[in-house]
Amino acid sequence: MDTIANDTPALTIQQHILQEQRRFPGASGEFSFLLSGITLAAKQIQAKVRRAGLTDILGNQDTSNVHGEVQQKLDIYSNDVLSSALACRESVGILASEENEHPMIMPHKSPIAKYAVVFDPLDGSSNIDVNVSVGTTFSIFRRPEGADFDDPTRWVLQPGRRQIAAGYVVYGSSTVMVYTVGNGVHGFTLDPAVGAFVLSHENIRMPQQGKYYSVNEAYRDNFPDAFIEYLEELRTGKLNHPYASRYIGSMVADFHRTLLRGGVFMYPPTKDFASGKLRLLYEANPIAIIAEQAGGAATDGRQRILDIQPETIHQRTPLIVGSQVEMERLFELFKTQVS
Ligand code: AHG
Ligand code: MN
Ligand code: MN
Repeated sequence: MDTIANDTPALTIQQHILQEQRRFPGASGEFSFLLSGITLAAKQIQAKVRRAGLTDILGNQDTSNVHGEVQQKLDIYSNDVLSSALACRESVGILASEENEHPMIMPHKSPIAKYAVVFDPLDGSSNIDVNVSVGTTFSIFRRPEGADFDDPTRWVLQPGRRQIAAGYVVYGSSTVMVYTVGNGVHGFTLDPAVGAFVLSHENIRMPQQGKYYSVNEAYRDNFPDAFIEYLEELRTGKLNHPYASRYIGSMVADFHRTLLRGGVFMYPPTKDFASGKLRLLYEANPIAIIAEQAGGAATDGRQRILDIQPETIHQRTPLIVGSQVEMERLFELFKTQVS
């Protein structure tokens, strides 16, 4: 008699999304088709990222120029790939990207379009030419009641707590996609041999406390005093143990480590940039919802990131995101509370 091997079969991201969708009776499948656009684009971007050095060599141009150009090309390439993978999904009405000043209205203007997708196609792109991890972030909103194509910003200027799905891809030592649809956080690793994202990190929970803080300490003198005090506490062991520091300069990669190992990642306000550097809609929001879903927290120092009502598409926000113990101490010091 033939038997079937009893190894647990690999669960691909598509199967996982379909399983998640079964939780919503009457779901049409459009949403999983939308997410498949993101996974397809992620595969295309990672293929390009993996060949970045080779493209340099083949380009045979002046080194300093080519680095700038390749970077720019990769930003633009990633933006094009994501935009076109999503534009052909009728359920998507509006796209907004770090690389486009204005939101993009999908030409089909379909009456059944009910989602807006916001993204940073390539995060940390200045790291590309030195072979350091980069990423993609995305955030999905439902079309607000009564919003039409004449007012595309209304589709995306929603507080992060209304994200119906969000996630990121890290193009690191392997390519990993992490996403949530508000039911926990799950991570998938791209198996390059078969070209599929396979479940590798089921129901990720952030450790309660970590060993690292992650911040660009070169700007420390320009941080508000409360941040300096907080970092000093971490460094000197006031919070159970002395911390070490880790900072890559690619938010997605720095956050991914923080998610898996615990600790805190922050981009504080500085004297020159009162709102820091990171963008609310396509950087802070997706990271914040993933952190909360995994048992952590995210704040701008005053309020929960997910409660900020955005006023413009590219607005910046300070971001502090991390594990429970580190975030609770931060709330005490800053005398703030997240809901
Ligand atoms: P992007 O490449 O999309 O513009 O984002 C870069 C961001 C983010 O990834 C990172 O956390 C931050 O820039 C690093 O900034 P500093 O060099 O000021 O630390
Ligand atoms: Mn970015
Ligand atoms: Mn970017």
